[in-house]
Amino acid sequence: MRVVSGKQVSEDVPIDLGLRPKRLGEFVGQQEVKQNLNIAIAAAQKRGESLDHVLFCGPPGLGKTTLAHIIAAEMGVNIKVSSGPAIERPGDLAAIITSLRSGDIFFIDEIHRLSHLVEEKLYPALEDFVFDIFLGKGPAARSLRLNLPCFTLIGATTRFALLTPPLRDRFGATYHLDFYDELAIKLILKRTAAFLKIPATEEGIEQIAQRARGTPRVANRLLKRVRDYAQVMADGVVTKEIAIEGLSKLGVDSIGLDDVDCKVLRTLIDKFGGGPVGLETIAASISEDADTIMDVYEPYLLQLGFLERTPRGRVVTKLAYEHLGLPCPKTSQAQTSLWKQA
Ligand SMILES: Nc1ncnc2c1ncn2[C@@H]1O[C@H](COP(=O)(O)OP(=O)(O)OP(=O)(O)O)[C@@H](O)[C@H]1O
Ligand SMILES: [Mg+2]
Repeated sequence: MRVVSGKQVSEDVPIDLGLRPKRLGEFVGQQEVKQNLNIAIAAAQKRGESLDHVLFCGPPGLGKTTLAHIIAAEMGVNIKVSSGPAIERPGDLAAIITSLRSGDIFFIDEIHRLSHLVEEKLYPALEDFVFDIFLGKGPAARSLRLNLPCFTLIGATTRFALLTPPLRDRFGATYHLDFYDELAIKLILKRTAAFLKIPATEEGIEQIAQRARGTPRVANRLLKRVRDYAQVMADGVVTKEIAIEGLSKLGVDSIGLDDVDCKVLRTLIDKFGGGPVGLETIAASISEDADTIMDVYEPYLLQLGFLERTPRGRVVTKLAYEHLGLPCPKTSQAQTSLWKQA
């Protein structure tokens, strides 16, 4: 994995482009989201209109970008892609938005990172399909109103809470993507194995699925690493034994926790008696970026029930102590149940 502008992306980007499901039918899991999207797309097509603005929220690697491209393919329209930090000034937004054609999709990744100035310019574009340009300064300043074609904005964010209420309200539909269950991850792994021509047994796939953190991107990445291991250390087939060996060599444990997850839990336990501790303090203690912990590591630890967010900070739960094979101090259990009651 490498980090681009503070977020993690797969290291096998060119291959991933081919791997991305292109139509809704190929997209595994997220049944509710798929059903709702199917209806919205069919209805928009029946009326001959553009789709309402759509927002996708959820942890990294669950398929937000993939779904944006799928919507464009299903609607048979063009998609222009940008991201919150890339649209620095209103002029950048004007350049993209005025080049859209009727029905086109404008995809803004990391939409929570748009500047306020740009965001305010976006409101009338979303609601009334107009864009105001101000020419000159002082008393001679004039404003020019451009009419835009009806387009669809698709926003993606890992931080729904950071979106301002006026921006949230302008989306016709908001879809929260959840972690995938093991069955869905297995199907995704089988699809990837077939696509990349990786020989794998059912048990091999199962072992990888158990460690994939319910995340398609992680699943595909682990499969590729196990393929490397299988090719160098064995006959190239991803079997149960090879998957277990290969993944443990990568520092991935039986439920998918890696070094950083364990560091987070261990630091909380060893240095802070299990918490509560603020996120910034945890980040500083393990020399990690607080945003990365919040976006990438914490969602899965919360989902497993290993961490809890309390008003005073993060607390390690009994389940985490059990998983790490450590005795759970009575105070920590008491603290957790106290916060639960509050
Ligand atoms: N439902 C799915 N079925 C099959 N493959 C999937 C699915 N969802 C995601 N993937 C795979 O996982 C990878 C990551 O998905 P995607 O880039 O859409 O995630 P994202 O939610 O946009 O992540 P980020 O927040 O980091 O931008 C894709 O390359 C795609 O191959
Ligand atoms: Mg994305």
